[in-house]
Order: sequence, then C-alpha cells, then structure tokens
Amino acid sequence: MNTSEVLSATGVDLSYGAAPAVRNAQIALHRGEVAAITGQSGSGKSSLLYCLAGVLPVARGEIRFEGRSLGVLNDEDLSALRREKFGFVFQYGELLPELTVEENTALPLRLAGQRKAEALAAAGEVLRRLGLDDLRGRRPSQVSGGQSQRVAVARSLVHKPAVVFADEPTGSLDSSNATAVLEEFLTLARAQGTAVVLVTHDADVAARADTHYSMCDGVLTAQVREVS
Ligand SMILES: Nc1ncnc2c1ncn2[C@@H]1O[C@H](COP(=O)(O)OP(=O)(O)O)[C@@H](O)[C@H]1O
Ligand SMILES: [Mg+2]
Repeated sequence: MNTSEVLSATGVDLSYGAAPAVRNAQIALHRGEVAAITGQSGSGKSSLLYCLAGVLPVARGEIRFEGRSLGVLNDEDLSALRREKFGFVFQYGELLPELTVEENTALPLRLAGQRKAEALAAAGEVLRRLGLDDLRGRRPSQVSGGQSQRVAVARSLVHKPAVVFADEPTGSLDSSNATAVLEEFLTLARAQGTAVVLVTHDADVAARADTHYSMCDGVLTAQVREVS
C-alpha cells in the first residue's frame, strides 16, 4: 500500500436485485486528493459513492480505508468510521431545519461527543473561512441556496475527516454560484488534507480535480489528463 493512500476499491461489484449498478470498480485515493467522477444520470455514480463510504455492502471486491478492509467491520464500527473519518455533502445541502447554521455545522463534532462550546467554536472557525460568519444564528430557511450549500460544505469538513463524499454538491446551484462554492470547498479540503470524491455531471467541475474518472453503465474508467 502506498503510505498516503486513504481509500481504495478493488474489483467492486454492486447490484440492486439482479440489476448491476457498479461493475469491477477500481479506485485509489490519496491524502488530500480530489477525485472527480463524471457520467450520465443512472450510470452508477451515487451507487459507487455509497459503496466507497461503507453505506451499501458490496457484492464482490473490497473497499479499504487506511489499509483496513471495510468488509471486516461490524455495523457499529462502520457507523463510527463514517461519523468520524468521513464527511458528506449532497445536492441540496440537507441541513436540519430546526438547527441554526452554526449548530448544523457543529453537528459532526457533537455526534463525536465534543462539548457544545468547543464544537460551536470549531464550527464558527470553518464558517468564518467560508465567509459565512454573519449567518451563524440563522435557520436554513433564512439563507439562500448558495449559502446553504456552503454551510453543508462547512459541516462536511468541520471534523477534519479523511475523506468527504460529495454527490453533485453544486448540482442545485446556478453556474457562477456552483463554481464559487466548489472553489471554496476544494481549497479548504486541500488545506486540511481531506481527500474528496466528487460526483458531478459537469466537465468544468471535473477539470478542477486532481484525478478524473468517468462512469458509464456501471463501469468506472480513469481518464488520462491532457498535458497543457
Ligand atoms: N435503491 C435502488 N434500487 C434499485 N435500483 C437502483 C437504486 N438506486 C439506483 N438504482 C439503479 O442503479 C443504477 C445506477 O443509479 P445511480 O447510482 O443512482 O446512478 P447516478 O448516480 O449515476 O445517477 C440506475 O439504473 C438506477 O436506476
Ligand atoms: Mg446520483
């Protein structure tokens, strides 16, 4: 194993009943690396993400996190791993409506057992870095779509996870907002050494990643970057 490798998949298959969604996937992700996965709707991108994150059990093959196979972990250990080492961002942010921006951001730290004052202080710091200081006390219903996605980004990074899984994280935004949110997200992730698996259908977004894979009918293929 390469020492900086955080997450890998070898020969991973996933099916829903008899319908294959992921076929023989291979991927290796290193510390701080941003890997983009592009592909049409229904090609299996989200399914692959759920396998990599240990959300869906694989039918064949192996996922390793920091050299350890996810297949040997029981449900409790797997939940703890997801909570402590992974972060997630989805298309619509999925903030909890009854919590403030600051409380939403602090959630991963609170779930990890950190005291409220410390968790809120850490959340405040990430929000400040994303230019969201002024929104700390607001509810999700009181912020814009772009702001809401920034808060989701802040929440995914607040506990300094090893990997963030981002499933079309800017898919609900207009293109200028999407670009800005993505820039901020990737800059912050790289600065803290968090690797990102970024699912997107946008080729411009994929061009900002370190590595690029495309997915078609469940088959993941590494794309060779043109040297410019
Ligand atoms: N929970 C599910 N049950 C059955 N089929 C599913 C389920 N989720 C996804 N699929 C199917 O698996 C394939 C891949 O879907 P998905 O991973 O969501 O693709 P993408 O994220 O690239 O749009 C599609 O054919 C989809 O219909
Ligand atoms: Mg999807």
